[in-house]
Amino acid sequence: MLVDNQWSERIRSGESASLIRCVDLFCGAGGLTHGLTSVGINVGLGIDIDPSCEYPYTANNNVSFLLKSVKDTTSADISKFFDDAPLRMLAGCAPCQPFSYYSRARLNSSDRRWHLLEQFSRLVRETTPHLVTMENVPLLQREDVFSSFHTELRQQGFDVIYRVVNCADYGVPQQRKRLILLASRLGPISLIAPETPEGYRITVKDAIGNLVPLKAGERCSSDSMHQACDLSPINLQRIQASKPGGSWRDWDEHLIAKCHRKKSGRTYSSVYGRMVWDKPSPTMTTQFYGFGNGRFGHPEQDRAISLREGAILQSFPVNYKFTPEDTSVCKRTVGRLIGNAVPVKLGAAIGKSIVSHVEKRLESKERIL
Ligand SMILES: C[S@@+](CC[C@H](N)C(=O)[O-])C[C@H]1O[C@@H](n2cnc3c(N)ncnc32)[C@H](O)[C@@H]1O
Repeated sequence: MLVDNQWSERIRSGESASLIRCVDLFCGAGGLTHGLTSVGINVGLGIDIDPSCEYPYTANNNVSFLLKSVKDTTSADISKFFDDAPLRMLAGCAPCQPFSYYSRARLNSSDRRWHLLEQFSRLVRETTPHLVTMENVPLLQREDVFSSFHTELRQQGFDVIYRVVNCADYGVPQQRKRLILLASRLGPISLIAPETPEGYRITVKDAIGNLVPLKAGERCSSDSMHQACDLSPINLQRIQASKPGGSWRDWDEHLIAKCHRKKSGRTYSSVYGRMVWDKPSPTMTTQFYGFGNGRFGHPEQDRAISLREGAILQSFPVNYKFTPEDTSVCKRTVGRLIGNAVPVKLGAAIGKSIVSHVEKRLESKERIL
């Protein structure tokens, strides 16, 4: 017998994904959860310390939300959401900032956020899931805290793999490199192969080419998320002078900011750019809605991309809700939720990898549960 009788019917009818009950640590606005549920994985609980995550997390996902630090989260908080599911999974994407290029130089090992990965390890020890997944920035793999994380998983009997992927290979209209870890107590596990054919990319035009045109400072009447930041007169002139894929180097001298005229600023060209219609977008940051914050100019309209466009480039569905209808949209908060999210399609690829692994193990002759 491969599994207990009560579950065999679900397996026969191709519903293996529903055997997995997942808790999402550091759940944010739900990018990872939305991807996992889109492939049928049953996510029961998301945990985050930021109250602004609760609305988008619960309004778009039929999942409970616990406002709590993972540091204070107990195994009891999690175990009750695992119920009696045959397969338990802990998913999590600890905050990336301690490991990003920008912050690395300024931080040392006493930064308290580093220890959140240790808290993830603690919860794996205490709740004994069958499956674990973690997503983070590629630089994390150079850090001791990551070595300790996967070494401890192996010591606990997990098969572990990790690799850096480009989200554009998994149907996300964005160049975004991320480190993915998958771990299973059921046996060797792997990440599914890229889903978009070699050389084919979903482009900015495919993703946002059909949205209502906007001017800088304008808001779409039918979608408050489709609003573009206002531009100062000088920034309006700058974007008018910007070419898709170009930078401030294309501008007349009088438009160039003082900091870029200095020798030290001359090499820093990855700000004040327009996106290119026929390519995936650059990596969405938490401040993608500002023209001066990266290459976030619209390919042909004279403005930075809107919050909705940023969310779509992170592969959130076009109607994903981030704030209640009767409240105004805070760009800073919503930009942070979107920029920090795991792209939904990457979450789906992680989910498919796990489901495919579980199916293979169920087909094998070994008893796994
Ligand atoms: C990279 S984001 C997670 C994105 C999320 N997985 C998604 O797909 O939308 C990291 C999250 O960790 C949360 N966070 C930071 N410190 C935390 C803590 N001590 N306990 C719980 N959540 C925390 C942040 O509020 C943020 O939402």
